[in-house]
Formats: sequence, C-alpha cells, structure tokens
Amino acid sequence: MGTDLASAQQLIIAIDGPAGAGKSTVARTLAGRFGLLNLESGAMYRAFALKALRASVAVSDSARLEALALDTEIRLEPTAEGNRVILDGEDVTALLRTPEVTEAASRVSVYPPVRARMVELQQMMGAMGGVVMEGRDIGTVVFPNAEVKIFLDAAPEIRGERRYAQLGPAPTVPAEEIVRDLRERDERDRNRAESPLKAAEDAVIIDSTNLTLDEVVNEAERIVRQRLG
Ligand code: DC
Repeated sequence: MGTDLASAQQLIIAIDGPAGAGKSTVARTLAGRFGLLNLESGAMYRAFALKALRASVAVSDSARLEALALDTEIRLEPTAEGNRVILDGEDVTALLRTPEVTEAASRVSVYPPVRARMVELQQMMGAMGGVVMEGRDIGTVVFPNAEVKIFLDAAPEIRGERRYAQLGPAPTVPAEEIVRDLRERDERDRNRAESPLKAAEDAVIIDSTNLTLDEVVNEAERIVRQRLG
C-alpha cells in the first residue's frame, strides 16, 4: 500500500513500545536511512520530571504538576549524537538518565494535564512531518495519522538484559534490580488511565525477543518502504 506523500521527507513514523524493546536504535537508524529528524518523546517527560524534582514538587501533587506543566517549554534539538533537550532555555541533556529522573518521569507521566502539555509540544515539533518520533503514545495519541506506525515489543527478561548490558562493563546495579524496575515502569505505562502504552490498531507489531537489533532495524525499514509504495 503506497501513500500520497511526495517524498519520504514528509513522513511521520511513530515508534512505540516498552522500555528496552530497541525503539531508540530503530528510530535513530530509520531517521538516518530516510533523512528524517529523530525525536525522543521520553526525553521530554524526563526533562519535565527534572523540573519537578528541582522545584521539590511531589510526584503525587497533581495540582502543582499541572501548573508547572503549563509553565514549561521543552524543545528537542536533533544532533548527530542524539537529541539535545532544552528545558526552559537550558540544555539539560546530561541530567536525564539518572535513576531518580527515570523513576520520576514514569510517575509524572500518568497525569493527563502533564501529558496534554507534552503532546502539544510534540505535535508542534512534528507538524511539518519529516520525523521519526518514539515513545509510548505516538501512534495512538500524538500522531494518530502517522503514515507508519511500528509497535516494538520483547519479553521483559530480554529487555532487562539489554538495559543491563547498556550499563557498561561493571554495572553498580544488580541485574535483578534493573529487571524489577523495568517491570514496574511497564506496569505503570500499560495500566495508566490516560494514554496507556498499547499498540495502535493500525500499527505493525515487531516482537524483537528473538531478533538481533540489525534484524529489527531491517524489518522496520522494509515496513517503511512498503508504506512508501
Ligand atoms: O522512553 P523513556 O524511558 O525515556 O521514557 C521515560 C518515561 O516517560 C517512561 O516511564 C514513560 C514516559 N513516556 C510516556 O509516558 N509517553 C511517551 N510518549 C514517552 C515516554
């Protein structure tokens, strides 16, 4: 099935799925192969969580989180090394991968007003097309009309192992803890009332449990080419 697009440069590709399924690698590689911008929506929730932590707003204080979200500007700037994340004019890229921010991002992202603000910012960034955006609700909520929707999944043990391997040669956190945290965040993402993590009805599902990342990327590329006709 082809699309009416003049070229791949106008495409919107939505990549959703749980943590550790390979979304970032697939999104980055597809963006490179098709000349698109790669936008990581999770980094925006992380930046907002950092702002809440700095302001000592509790992750359970929905009223203050809402007020804070309305007063927040977050921009992603794609570079060869990945997205630079600009929070209210400050480059916070290096501050977003700590366990504290990871945990807080998972918690603040359950609130509808927080999501509404992030979705608004994401839609503005993708308005002209030409983007691969990865996250949890891109194909269902942010860009329901995306030309390509891919839902990447994998067994939780495999996703935990991949995350553990990313920590480098001598991780300070035990593997079991990584898997446990990942499962907890998954549960929250899949079961929240607002925009839970789930595949869009028209998404192509890739289960990467028994695939190498190369195989996943090639499959994703095949799906995009098929859509382009
Ligand atoms: O993809 P990530 O690990 O950087 O995402 C951080 C958190 O943000 C994750 O716990 C779920 C949330 N998130 C979300 O709710 N919706 C998105 N589109 C992206 C991330």
